Amino acid sequence: MIRWGIIGTGGIARAFAADLELTDSGTVAAVGSRSLEKAEAFGHGRAHGSYEALVSDPEVDAVYVATPHPMHHANARLALEAGKPALVEKAFTMNANEAKDLVGMAREKGVFLMEAMWTRFLPHMAEIRRLIAEGALGEIVTVIADHGQWFAQDPAFRLFAPELGGGALLDLGVYPVSFASMVLGTPERVVTLSTPAFTGVDGQTSILLGCASGAQAVINCTSSAVSPTTAAIVGTEARIEIERRWYGPSAFTFTPRDGEPTRFETHLEGHGLRLEADEVARCLEQGLLESPLLPLDETVSIMETMDAVLAAATV
Ligand SMILES: NC(=O)c1ccc[n+]([C@@H]2O[C@H](COP(=O)([O-])OP(=O)(O)OC[C@H]3O[C@@H](n4cnc5c(N)ncnc54)[C@H](OP(=O)(O)O)[C@@H]3O)[C@@H](O)[C@H]2O)c1
Repeated sequence: MIRWGIIGTGGIARAFAADLELTDSGTVAAVGSRSLEKAEAFGHGRAHGSYEALVSDPEVDAVYVATPHPMHHANARLALEAGKPALVEKAFTMNANEAKDLVGMAREKGVFLMEAMWTRFLPHMAEIRRLIAEGALGEIVTVIADHGQWFAQDPAFRLFAPELGGGALLDLGVYPVSFASMVLGTPERVVTLSTPAFTGVDGQTSILLGCASGAQAVINCTSSAVSPTTAAIVGTEARIEIERRWYGPSAFTFTPRDGEPTRFETHLEGHGLRLEADEVARCLEQGLLESPLLPLDETVSIMETMDAVLAAATV
């Protein structure tokens, strides 16, 4: 039973705390906020009026960093410096350099660290990895995934405010980039087209990733419209089509080139965020310093791809 300490009291911190109630792998022991009042109003765990106090709490076994992306690096460092395993929200950091710094620190100190890319730990993704591993798709040719959500044009909102790490790519595009990484590995080529939102951060970004095998990923993200949020993995022997909100608990069909489709459904109570918490608990119990399902080198590679996308973006 992991006694979690949560840094931040925003939307995802609340969703994580609520979802933890559906697992017996962990519980919210404490929450840290920049304001004691907010920590007290959070309604889960002991309240701390600073992030420093939260990571120093001797009854916190692991820390979940649930602040905006520009704060992840400093907040995760706090946890690691205190010797506490850290689960860090996506996007893991603002760039690959920050990611490498955290990974280096975790390895030096021998402390567990993991990116909270919750999609990776969902049941349909486990089944997809199983099908790929047994060669059911043949040679993978194409990965297609989109992630578009509509947000009101509020310049103070996290997705639009540059100082809060705004931009469709870091918040939404990281999901399909991570998905492509899971299926195809690190890309050799990155091609990008980006359109700015009204604040100048990227509002829509389309990405082509090219792999040494010849396989390609076709990715789109936008913060100004609700897109289908479906995904596909296309192989020479079969294809997988993941239904709407592919990045959350979802269903998919597996269709052999000349055969009938079979459907996989996910039956999961709650949000599904607890599965990443279960993975942290499993790793800590086994004495692992990183998750084999989302190794730290892959998190760094994903952030390198994100850096390349932003560098290549033609705004
Ligand atoms: N896995 C998912 O499905 C998912 C979904 C949404 C978001 N996320 C990720 O989770 C992170 C947080 O997103 P969110 O939607 O929860 O954000 P949010 O609602 O704005 O909450 C962020 C929290 O971070 C703390 N914070 C520290 N410095 C801040 C600053 N300068 N400005 C604003 N807040 C600050 C605040 O807590 P205190 O004031 O109490 O310190 C705030 O409540 C992001 O990296 C995002 O990508 C993941």
